[in-house]
Amino acid sequence: MPSDRILIFDTTLRDGEQCPGAAMTPRQKLEVARQLARLGVDIIEAGFPIASQGDFDSVKEIARTVRGPVICGLARCVPADIDAAGAAVKPAGKKGRIHVFLGTSKIHREFKLGKARDEILRLATDGVRRACRFTSNVEFSPEDASRTEIDFLVEVVETAIGAGATTINLPDTTGYATPEEYGRMFAEVIARARGSENAVFSTHCHNDLGLAVANSLSGVQSGARQIECTLNGIGERAGNAALEEIVMALRTRQDVFSHLTTGIQTREIVRSSRLVSAACSFAIPRNKAIVGLNAFAHSSGIHQDGILKKRETYEIMDPEEVGWGKTELPLTKHSGRAAVASRLKHLGYLLKPAELQAVFSRFKDIGDRKKFVYDDDLVSLVGAQIQVARETYSLESLHVESGTGKKPMARIALKHGRKTLAATGSGDGTVDAVLKTIDRITGLRGHLMDYQVRAVTEGKDAVGEVSLSVRFDAKGEPAAGRAAATDVIESSGRAYLAATNRWIAEGGRASKKTRRTLGHP
Ligand code: KIV
Ligand code: ZN
Repeated sequence: MPSDRILIFDTTLRDGEQCPGAAMTPRQKLEVARQLARLGVDIIEAGFPIASQGDFDSVKEIARTVRGPVICGLARCVPADIDAAGAAVKPAGKKGRIHVFLGTSKIHREFKLGKARDEILRLATDGVRRACRFTSNVEFSPEDASRTEIDFLVEVVETAIGAGATTINLPDTTGYATPEEYGRMFAEVIARARGSENAVFSTHCHNDLGLAVANSLSGVQSGARQIECTLNGIGERAGNAALEEIVMALRTRQDVFSHLTTGIQTREIVRSSRLVSAACSFAIPRNKAIVGLNAFAHSSGIHQDGILKKRETYEIMDPEEVGWGKTELPLTKHSGRAAVASRLKHLGYLLKPAELQAVFSRFKDIGDRKKFVYDDDLVSLVGAQIQVARETYSLESLHVESGTGKKPMARIALKHGRKTLAATGSGDGTVDAVLKTIDRITGLRGHLMDYQVRAVTEGKDAVGEVSLSVRFDAKGEPAAGRAAATDVIESSGRAYLAATNRWIAEGGRASKKTRRTLGHP
């Protein structure tokens, strides 16, 4: 009989970060990993160490410094991958896990791998055995499990368990399964695979048909005891199953889910969700369940009346239970550095003195223009501040001129080392003029791929946050940037500079982080 405890395996830093535009810097990944530990996840999949030196270093640093959860590194069934993952998770000691995966479906065997079934079984055995040399905590995933012939899937799972895997993950890699099919696959594999009682079974669902959470819950009802998920549901293509939705579904519908529990500190959910959104410049849709701004907003008069009479008339969860509400007193321009530092600590940030100084100085700028600085404003400022390791260019001043029938002009001065570099330029709009003028100074030529602006809090003086991604190199992936200011033209310039700095900090290769081209065994 499986236990009632569901292990939450968070893959925000691996599958989540894999989605275009969500790339995080090592510093941001560390902040997210620390927050995941506070949130109470059981396992953090910290990255894919073979993918790049940056991924390797980042997994290793998380394994060295983050305490509580198991730290996991992903590897294909390839010796070099497994060795890299083993070395990266080593600092976590007994809390290090290697996750090896191998395509098993007919389409993956024939078209991607060009391997027959017996070769797949041999590779799975060799891969798991090699991983066991580094740690006894080995997870195996038959990739595209939900489209793998069931008899062969059972054989693969038996083989992996026989070779030493202690967790078996059955991914719905393409988001193709329906809840009924996905649950049936678990029931059948668990019933038929020899040794299944010695392994923890895990779900891993993608959201191509919007079924990722439903499928994960169905897997659990059929005996899975680990769920792989991401905050805000970020991930490849349409994303992965959203952690917050799974946890709150299990908790809210204890009657349906047979009193299954997780170790998640639900009051940390909103904070964690915002940290991830800030780190990867991915805005949370307003109507996103649990963490969207509208998730607990009742606009119709009938609903509001019902809520005032008895909250449960229209609310199935208490917003405070997931970390909404109880806003602290906002800070003002009179608040000192200690007050800002203490609020940042409360929000979960551990900043180095230089970072705190930079955030404090931006806080003062904003405090001069805005009566109250709210927690969300601070999260936005700090998120922008820690996104680059090195600021090659920083904004010294920005002036724009525009008006009906006038060509918009920008005059910008950037600090570059000890020098100040200035230029004037024009564009089709004010933002365009600003970005082109920055390019003129840096000598780069960025192509704007995505541009989003949102008001962080309410009111006409709200901080406007700009998230954008820029392609500096035709072959590469875009570099993301984000910034906040009370003036959206200034936020746009700062966000563009952040993307520029990021691209430069990564050696002008924001793209190549997405990665050496990974062949298959
Ligand atoms: O979706 C998938 O199959 C994966 C595997 C690496 C587990 O992400
Ligand atoms: Zn996946």
